[in-house]
Amino acid sequence: MKALILSGGKGTRLRPLTYTGAKQLVPVANKPILWYGIEAIVATGITDIGIVISPETGAEVQSQTGNGDRFGATITYIVQDQPAGLAHAVKIARPFLGDASFVMFLGDNLIQDNLCQFLADFEAKAAAALILLRPVQNPSAFGVATVDDQGQVLKLVEKPKEPQSNLALVGIYFFSNLIQKAIDEIQPSARGELEITDAIQQLIDQRQSVEARQLTGWWLDTGKKDDLLEANRIILDTCLESDGLGHLHKTSKVIGRVQIGARSQVINCTIRGPVTIGDDCYLENCFIGPYSSIGDRVTLIEADLEHSVILQETKITGIHQRIVDSVIGQRVQLTNALHRPKALRFMIGDDCQIEVT
Ligand code: DAU
Repeated sequence: MKALILSGGKGTRLRPLTYTGAKQLVPVANKPILWYGIEAIVATGITDIGIVISPETGAEVQSQTGNGDRFGATITYIVQDQPAGLAHAVKIARPFLGDASFVMFLGDNLIQDNLCQFLADFEAKAAAALILLRPVQNPSAFGVATVDDQGQVLKLVEKPKEPQSNLALVGIYFFSNLIQKAIDEIQPSARGELEITDAIQQLIDQRQSVEARQLTGWWLDTGKKDDLLEANRIILDTCLESDGLGHLHKTSKVIGRVQIGARSQVINCTIRGPVTIGDDCYLENCFIGPYSSIGDRVTLIEADLEHSVILQETKITGIHQRIVDSVIGQRVQLTNALHRPKALRFMIGDDCQIEVT
C-alpha cells in the first residue's frame, strides 16, 4: 500500500497568500497543513509516500518537507506540469504507484478521524475504491454523493449546481489499481480537468465495488481564509500543549495553554491561550488573545490580536486596535501612526507593507 498526496494546483482561493507560496504550506498552529496529512498517513503504517507538486511551488514544498526522514517515511516528489485535475495527478504518478493500491490525500484537507479503520475496511472488503463522505451546508462547492439506504454509492457529481444530497466527498480516497483503467476511460470535465470524481463514477458504472464511509470527526478543506482560521482554532483547541522554550519575561502574564518557541522573548505581554508562538520571536507590550498562531521570527510591539494567524518574519508595531479573524502573510510590515478604537479585519499576502493612518 502506498500513499499519494496532491500538493500541486493553483491555490486561487487563498490568494493573495498563495501568489507567493504553496497553499499546502500555509501553517495551521504553526505547522504546514500538508504535514498533518503526512502524519495521518504514517500513523496507518504506510510509509511509501508520493507527493505531487507543481513547477511553481514544488521546490518550496520539497525543501520544507524533505525526504520523509522527519516523519519516518520515504517521500518521492512527482512534478505535474499543469493542474489538469486530480485524476491527471494520479495518471502522472503511475511510475511511482505501479500496481499498488494507495490512499490519495488532498494536501489542503485536514481531518480529525484516524484513517486506520477506513484502511482496514478497504482492505477487508477488497474494494475497488473506498471514499469518505461528510454532510455539509454548501454541497455545491464539493464532489457530491448520492447513496442508497444501505450506504451504497449510487452517483457522484463534481460541484453540482443542484446537489442531490448534502454528502460531500472528503479529499481522502482509498484506491485499488483499477482506478488507473477508469482514469484512462474518462474525458476532461467542462472545467477542463480530469476529475477523480468521474473516474470513481466510472468504477460504479462498471459495477466495481465502491464503498463509502462517513467521517464522524471534523473535516476542514483549508482552501479559504475562514476555513484556515477554523482549522487553526480547532487544532489549537485540541492538540496544543503548553511548553516554553522561549523566554517569558516576569512582566508578562500567561493564561491557559501557550507554547513559546526557542529563543523567543515575551516582554510585558498578556497572552491568553490557546496560543502558539514560533521560534526567535520578539513580543513587547502586546495582548495576544485566544486562537492565535504566530510564526517564526515575528516581531509584535504594542499589538493587540486574537483569533489570527501571523506568518513568519512579519512585523506589527503600534496597532492598538484589536486585530481579529485575520491571516497575515510572511514578511508583512504593519505599522500605525494614530490611535483609533476600532477592530481591524485583514487578509494580507506576503511582502505587503501597510500603514494605518
Ligand atoms: O476537498 C474536497 C474536494 O476536493 C472534493 O469534494 C472534490 O470532489 C474534489 O474535486 C476536490 O475539489 P477542490 O476544488 O477542493 O480541489 P482543488 O482544486 O482545491 O485541489 C485539491 C488539492 O489537489 C489541492 O491541494 C491542490 C491539488 N491539486 C489539484 C489539481 C486540480 C493537484 O495537485 N493537481 C491538480 O491538478
